[in-house]
Formats: sequence, C-alpha cells, structure tokens
Amino acid sequence: MARILIEGGHPLSGEVLVGGAKNAALPIMAATILTSDTVHLSNIPRLNDVETMQKVLRALGGSSEWEDAGKLKIKCNGGIQEEAPYELVKTMRASFFVMGPLLSRLKRARVPLPGGCAIGTRPVNIHLKGFEALGAKVSIDGGFAVAVADRLIGTGIHLDFPSVGATENLMMAASLAEGSTTIENAAQEPEIIDLGNFLNSMGAKIQGTGGPTIQVEGVHSLHGGNYRVIPDRIDAGTFLVLGAVAHGPLTILNANPSHQIGVMAKLQEMGATIAVNEDRMTVECPGRLRGADVKTLPYPGFPTDMQAQFTVAMSVAQGTSLVTESVFENRFMHIAELVRMGANLNIRDRTVVVNGVEKLIGAPVSASDLRAGAAMVMAGLIAEGHTEVSNVFHIERGYENLVERLSGLGANIRRIEDSKGPTENNRR
Ligand code: UD1
Repeated sequence: MARILIEGGHPLSGEVLVGGAKNAALPIMAATILTSDTVHLSNIPRLNDVETMQKVLRALGGSSEWEDAGKLKIKCNGGIQEEAPYELVKTMRASFFVMGPLLSRLKRARVPLPGGCAIGTRPVNIHLKGFEALGAKVSIDGGFAVAVADRLIGTGIHLDFPSVGATENLMMAASLAEGSTTIENAAQEPEIIDLGNFLNSMGAKIQGTGGPTIQVEGVHSLHGGNYRVIPDRIDAGTFLVLGAVAHGPLTILNANPSHQIGVMAKLQEMGATIAVNEDRMTVECPGRLRGADVKTLPYPGFPTDMQAQFTVAMSVAQGTSLVTESVFENRFMHIAELVRMGANLNIRDRTVVVNGVEKLIGAPVSASDLRAGAAMVMAGLIAEGHTEVSNVFHIERGYENLVERLSGLGANIRRIEDSKGPTENNRR
C-alpha cells in the first residue's frame, strides 16, 4: 500500500497544469456503448478510475486503449453484452453509468448495485425510477439491478433530487429511446453539459444541459467521432485553495474559470486574490486567510467535492467558520484526522464548527476518500513537521501525478510503496 510523506512548511509557488475532468470522462466513456463506431477521446486523465472504466468496457465486449498521452480510443462493436461484472463495479461506483447506455442499446442491462461508500449510502433509486419511467421493467436480482424493455419510450421524468449520476444515466438511456424525454430538476454540473455535447457530437439531440430542464429527442442510432473532455474543475479548485492557504502565487494552467465561480467567490471572501487570464488562474494570499461559512449544494452551489479542502483552509484561518454538508450524509471522515493535526473542529449534525488555529502539526493520517485524501495532503503541506498520508489509493483515483505536480511547486513530498496492496473492498 502506498503512502505519501510530506515535510510541511515549504513555500509553494509556480505553475501547475490541470488535467481532463475525471467526472466528465467516466460518463463519456460509458456513453461510447451507445455506438458501434470508434470514438477517440482526448484530455482524458490517466487515473485508476479511468482504467477501471476501460476494464468495464472490455468486460462488456468493447475495446479501449490509450493512443497517446491523454488520448483514448474506444470501440463497442456488435459483441456488447448486457452484464457488468461485480468485481469491477464494486471498486468504482461510477461503473453504474453503463446501465443507461446498455439499456438504450440492448434493451437489457444487468449491473451490480454499487452499494455504499465512505461518504454515504449513495442509493441509485433515482436512476432506476427514471429507467422505469422510460418503459423498462426494473428488478433487483442477486445484488444486480436488472432492467428489461421491449421499447424505451420518451416521457417526462422529474428527479426527486438533481442527482448528477441519475441525470447522466437518463440522458444516455433516452438518447436512443422513441420520442422525446424531458428531465426536470436535472443536475446542472459542467460535466452534464460536457456529456450532452459529446452525445450531440455523436448525433444525439439533447438541449437544455446546464439548466434544470433537459430535453432529449430520441434518435435511431449514434455514430463515432472525436471529442475533447473539459478540464477538471475539482483538480483546479484544489490547487486554488492550496495557493491561497500556502500563500502562492500559484498559477493554474488549462482551467475553465467559469466553472470556479463559487470556489473563487469563497476564496476572495476569505482574503485571497485571484487573477484570471483566459485558461490561467493565479491565486495568492500573502497574509492569513479569514474564516467564512460554506454550505455544499448541487451546482451552481458550492461543490461537495471541495468541502474537505476548504475545511483545511478554514482550520488555519482567522476566526470561526461553519462548513455544512447538505449533499452527502457522511462526508466528514477527514475531520477526526485533521483534529489529530491540531485543528479545532467540532461536528454538530451536518455542520462542522471550525475555530481557526495558528498552525497545524504534522502527523500520520489516513485518506478516507478521494477529496478527503487531497485535503490531508494539503494539510500536510502547510503543517509544521512531517505528515504521512496512508490509503493513498483513494487520492490516485482522482488526482493525476499529484506528488510530481506538488514537487514542481516546491513541496517536499514523496510517495513510497509498501509491499501490501489495498483490499479491493476498501476501494471506491
Ligand atoms: C457525482 C460525482 C461526485 C460528486 C457528486 C455530487 C461522478 C463520478 N461523481 O456523484 O464526485 O461528489 O456527483 O456533486 O461524477 N442520490 C439518491 N438517489 C440516487 C442518486 C443520488 O438518493 O439515485 C443522492 C446521493 O446519495 C447523494 C446525492 O443524491 O446524497 C447526490 O448524489 P449524486 O449527485 O447522484 O452524485 P454522484 O453522481 O454519485
């Protein structure tokens, strides 16, 4: 099992490159099931989650290979079969994205229910309800979600919650359905827009992505092509917070500033300055940050995927901050780890009360999930002394070359590999 070792307190500045968006790449890779043609994708981050989705596509009968750095070639030709293997889906819940495209293309799909994870129970009931609305018969059999339909017929679907995954799965399912589907209370994340743009580039007819109502006019078939995925807004956001908390100046390259409005506003409120020049964003904060309150919400609200990183910033900010998590029910596993580093944090129901301290002190800590893991690395970088972050596999699901990129900014950080690997059951 790998660990990351950090000697904190080194000044961090310079330029860092942001990669392609994991959370756009995964559903887009799943959407390639909708065509038997070849699809070429670029700006794809080389991450464990991407490799897992490649394995899922191969297990379904498709092919997926790297053509070049950041470039994937995928072909899901005639042999696609309906069942995704439990061994893969249990390691990455985003594998469930294949359910909508399989159902749309084959009119049958058997995909393991992903189960809960470190941040909550994370049911897929909204996905399944939507498949039923489109005319599928849905059942649970031996831990698998099974959907079967003679025909999928477009309809009106109102989501109980603007779930990102459900919106994506239903956009894909509706793409080859007969007639028109309207998804109300849809998620509005940039990754939804990217999936819609990708599907439209394959010949789909989707309108309204980025707003609460998405219209999908079913088409007979989709074709292959080339598509470039958007930059990763959470990777960029993580470096924005790092630049503010470690003072900077830190310039983020290949970002999309329009996806960072909420994060930028909060950092500016806390005292950071951010200069934007096309796809470059420079952040700095010569003094100590001020505390502020945040509440996570569906986009365009404050992203839950940035909650842990901001909690680190607030831990060393002046004054008291409140961090409220309203998207996931159990996304505070990093709090106890930060307390071990000297942070003054108290959980009250779904809110963390943060009383800023002058400094954090290095300690051995564990990454409880992907973003919490990035937050622990950030805490280690600004802490006094040595920090050792374990369960690094969580971080490597979503941050490409993190240690190398941080070293390039002046961090004293290295990754060491132990002999024992993580158990599959630990992964998500
Ligand atoms: C996606 C992102 C994840 C991000 C999250 C919220 C990917 C691969 N992952 O996850 O990084 O943190 O959006 O921005 O894109 N829910 C239900 N029933 C459902 C579906 C969701 O109750 O059928 C609940 C979830 O338990 C959660 C909330 O809705 O409490 C939001 O989940 P959702 O938006 O679906 O997140 P994901 O798509 O899983």
